[in-house]
Amino acid sequence: MILSLLLALNFFPSIQVAENKILVNQSPMLVVNNNEVNLSCKYTYNLFSKEFRASLYKGVDSAVEVCAVNGNHSKSLQSTNKEFNCTVNLGNETVTFYLQDLYVNQTDIYFCKIEVLYPPPYIDNEKSNGTIIHVKGNARLDQCPLSSSGFQLQS
Ligand SMILES: *[C@@H]1O[C@H](CO)[C@@H](O)[C@H](O)[C@H]1NC(C)=O
Ligand SMILES: *[C@@H]1O[C@H](CO)[C@@H](O)[C@H](O)[C@H]1NC(C)=O
Ligand SMILES: *[C@@H]1O[C@H](CO)[C@@H](O)[C@H](O)[C@H]1NC(C)=O
Ligand SMILES: *[C@@H]1O[C@H](CO)[C@@H](O)[C@H](O)[C@H]1NC(C)=O
Ligand SMILES: *[C@@H]1O[C@H](CO)[C@@H](O)[C@H](O)[C@H]1NC(C)=O
Ligand SMILES: *[C@@H]1O[C@H](CO)[C@@H](O)[C@H](O)[C@H]1NC(C)=O
Repeated sequence: MILSLLLALNFFPSIQVAENKILVNQSPMLVVNNNEVNLSCKYTYNLFSKEFRASLYKGVDSAVEVCAVNGNHSKSLQSTNKEFNCTVNLGNETVTFYLQDLYVNQTDIYFCKIEVLYPPPYIDNEKSNGTIIHVKGNARLDQCPLSSSGFQLQS
């Protein structure tokens, strides 16, 4: 009874936190034919003169950090997962991840993330809908030798 009263009075400030989030727009799907792609993350926020961390994650659970850039427009530090070849281009409201040397088995959903670190308050994004990056095979590399044992089921 007390709880419902508190809820009715909007006693819990955390309820309002969600309003203070950056929204990220990224294209739903990108088809990759030549093993490279530019994934643009467009934010409802101007990063100009802010210190931020912009990153890209792979997988439905965002388990793999693909690439990240930490800093501001004049000075930034990039880190890349060793399984990826990534270059980051910074704009005021857009960060583009240029991925090269993609493999077919890296086809997955990728999520953009943005965090504003300074000046306060800290603000990050509402989880985006993500982009499915579909890496199409190069015909020559895709030929799969038949298994001589006959036990393995290859795609
Ligand atoms: C994400 O998907 C939802 C539901 O399909 C849609 O309403 C929303 O506009 C999408 N958000 C963006 C940023 O595209
Ligand atoms: C991605 O962007 C880079 C740098 O802006 C450009 O050189 C490259 O051609 C672009 N690649 C694709 C596939 O759009
Ligand atoms: C960018 O970051 C560097 C190093 O942290 C700092 O010295 C510089 O003042 C910052 N520039 C802006 C425009 O915030
Ligand atoms: C990324 O790929 C480009 C084009 O294939 C290549 O020139 C560059 O050396 C690669 N960078 C790394 C770190 O592998
Ligand atoms: C970035 O934003 C700043 C401040 O809003 C503005 O002065 C500048 O012209 C913008 N740059 C671009 C390339 O839009
Ligand atoms: C993905 O494919 C590449 C090239 O075929 C291979 O080197 C790499 O080990 C594979 N990665 C995984 C996680 O299977």
